[in-house]
Amino acid sequence: MKIVSVVGARPQFIKCAPVSRIIREQHEEILVHTGQHYDPKMSDVFFEELDIPKPDYNLGIGSGTQGEQTGKMLIEIEKVLLKEKPDIVLVYGDTNSTLAGALAASKLHIKVTHVEAGLRSFDRTMPEEINRVITDHISNILFCPTDTAVMNLKNEGITEGVYNVGDVMVDALKYNQKIAEEKSTILQDLNLNPKEFLLATVHRASNTDNKEKLSSIVKAFSDAEATIIFPVHPRTKKYLKEYDLWEKILTNTKVIPPVGYLDMLKLESNARKVITDSGGIQKEAYMLGIPCITLRDNTEWVETVEEGWNILVGANYEKIGDAIENLEGADRRNSVFGDGSASEKISQKINARET
Ligand code: UD1
Ligand code: UDP
Repeated sequence: MKIVSVVGARPQFIKCAPVSRIIREQHEEILVHTGQHYDPKMSDVFFEELDIPKPDYNLGIGSGTQGEQTGKMLIEIEKVLLKEKPDIVLVYGDTNSTLAGALAASKLHIKVTHVEAGLRSFDRTMPEEINRVITDHISNILFCPTDTAVMNLKNEGITEGVYNVGDVMVDALKYNQKIAEEKSTILQDLNLNPKEFLLATVHRASNTDNKEKLSSIVKAFSDAEATIIFPVHPRTKKYLKEYDLWEKILTNTKVIPPVGYLDMLKLESNARKVITDSGGIQKEAYMLGIPCITLRDNTEWVETVEEGWNILVGANYEKIGDAIENLEGADRRNSVFGDGSASEKISQKINARET
């Protein structure tokens, strides 16, 4: 079978790595990078570290407004699909690259396969929520990471072609945890001792594009009696400078450029707590048994909250401070995101549908 996989943003490189490895054993994969993320530390580093094959096409779309970015991707992906004529198109997660890939394929009557289907925050002010809903409704095969995701789809009338295979991010984490342990020197490089620091990331538009919220987060970080390591997303760096917050954060917070996946795993597993608005990092914190403070009012990853490993604090100064002081993990964790065999199951289902 000929499969076109569309990726473009940091978390998609991580998600596609284990799937790509396994589907290439039996199928021809054409990898399309939309160019949504393009800085070497947001893109190249993941291809190198995770051994992802070089993209067959890099569309070089870059940044832009929602419509501009998605529209340009749609135009260019369609050209690739017309040329390559794949049997299926594989898309991941909830970014504009996901939506553009799914829409281009669906309009050409090419089967759309969505990995990480069924997630919902029920917050349509998030661009990602629009991307998730539309992608799921035009997908033919929907690979869900959790039972909650399957239920969400059922509630929207989508029951055909839906499979709970577990989360491919478990596969990526399991595959790379030992490699990160051996290869990453980030703790030494930053002079950090295990469990003596907190790890923070912020990039969600609702936090970065709002001066009041970003100021509140920065103040909570600066007032915390803790060392905070903050690999900063380029979007956030831009707004910290624009809002004149850049200097204010440099007290007890060590702001560093975005890090590769191996360094990130090493930082996450050795952090006392994680503070984030990232979807992927909420899950990784749970998988690693690290308490997570989520800078959002809602989450798609409800299991992490239900099981007592994650707390939603929005951008509220007091709540962030209180969680930094007091949040502890729970006594136990269930394997809600699966056992690390999601890619294998995805490959089996794709193979079964071929026959
Ligand atoms: C995107 C996704 C988000 C995902 C995140 C992962 C959408 C709508 N959002 O958000 O769901 O969680 O990726 O990190 O698809 N920039 C650079 N260099 C880069 C990439 C971005 O400087 O390599 C800057 C540009 O100023 C750009 C801004 O970051 O305008 C935002 O980038 P964009 O890809 O539009 O959205 P993200 O915030 O990265
Ligand atoms: N990540 C990374 N380096 C960083 C920040 C994040 O490798 O500096 C990884 C992180 O471990 C996770 C993924 O990127 O696997 C999450 O991506 P991101 O937070 O950008 O997007 P989201 O998951 O919110 O869509």
